[in-house]
Amino acid sequence: METKEKTVLSGVKPTGEPHIGNYFGAMKQFVDLQEKYDESLFFIADYHALNTLHNADEMKQNIFEVALDYLAIGLDPKKVTIFKQSDIPQHAELAVIFNTITTMPYLMRAHAFKDAEAKNKEISVGTFDYPMLMAADILMYDTDAVPVGQDQKQHIEIARDTAEKFNRTFSDEFKLPEPLILKEVAVVPGTDGQKMSKSYNNTIPLFAEDTEIEKAVMSIVTDSKSPEEKKNPEEDNIFALHKLFSSIEELEGIEKRYKEGGMGYKESKEILIENIKKFISPMRERRKELEKDKDSIIKMLEENGEKMRERAEQKMQSVREKIGVSLK
Ligand code: TYM
Repeated sequence: METKEKTVLSGVKPTGEPHIGNYFGAMKQFVDLQEKYDESLFFIADYHALNTLHNADEMKQNIFEVALDYLAIGLDPKKVTIFKQSDIPQHAELAVIFNTITTMPYLMRAHAFKDAEAKNKEISVGTFDYPMLMAADILMYDTDAVPVGQDQKQHIEIARDTAEKFNRTFSDEFKLPEPLILKEVAVVPGTDGQKMSKSYNNTIPLFAEDTEIEKAVMSIVTDSKSPEEKKNPEEDNIFALHKLFSSIEELEGIEKRYKEGGMGYKESKEILIENIKKFISPMRERRKELEKDKDSIIKMLEENGEKMRERAEQKMQSVREKIGVSLK
């Protein structure tokens, strides 16, 4: 008999359309893991999104969209709890407590902060403190495993450090979570070969319409080798995406033709377009069906919010006792 593991938790920010990097790096894992864990918690990280999104209508719409995305990729609401971070104010409370045991120089070593600083971006306190809220998200529910892409690895290490620091400073309260990062898809490349990311404008949206898929794939950057020339598949941005969408046999065939010469980039892109369309269209259609029943999705979020709030409140009672602010 397969033994179930414990609690898996992860989140996605409602900052706009998810892309295939989000899917292969993280969200596909959510679907696979829902069968394996006793408890699967997937939430919409709206307070994290608030660092970059200051438009109430867009925020509202995007939150609903992430809930739809979760259902459309195959998360089963009977097996997982999908909830909205802002429904549980205890996350923010716990982040405030974590702030008091964390130093500025420690948070200044975080990649996200260093990148923003290197680019001379204006950094909000919320962005600087992002890892503390994320630690609160994770540690609140005694999470064992956190499926994410490579870019979140440091955040999970910070959550672990924070749990240890709290346990050492007060007494044992928090479990140390493990990141779940799949090596082959830890960093899914975009159409220009850099990490796929909305901020680089190099994405293929997860629920793209056929014409969007064509446009995105046609924009993939290649060198100028002719169809006859031999090519190194490992240096080509189209081939990197074939790895996600081809069967093993098909991938071997493409690889062989790259190495021997005779496969042009145009043909390679056309194959990729067909495979992406085949992959995306069933999910896209399912999403359109689910979208019709907005009310029941909102109801699900409300009910789950209530359930998770009770759970978080219990944890916080224990935390408040440990830090000495509870007089009971
Ligand atoms: P977000 O919304 O930016 O991204 C969601 C997930 O997608 C992964 N990802 C990628 N994986 C591989 N290749 C890519 N090109 C790629 N782009 C994005 C991300 O690693 C992430 O797993 N901080 C989180 C949200 C969050 C969270 C949490 C996650 C808030 N609290 C607690 C886990 C646990 C974020 O910004 O994800």
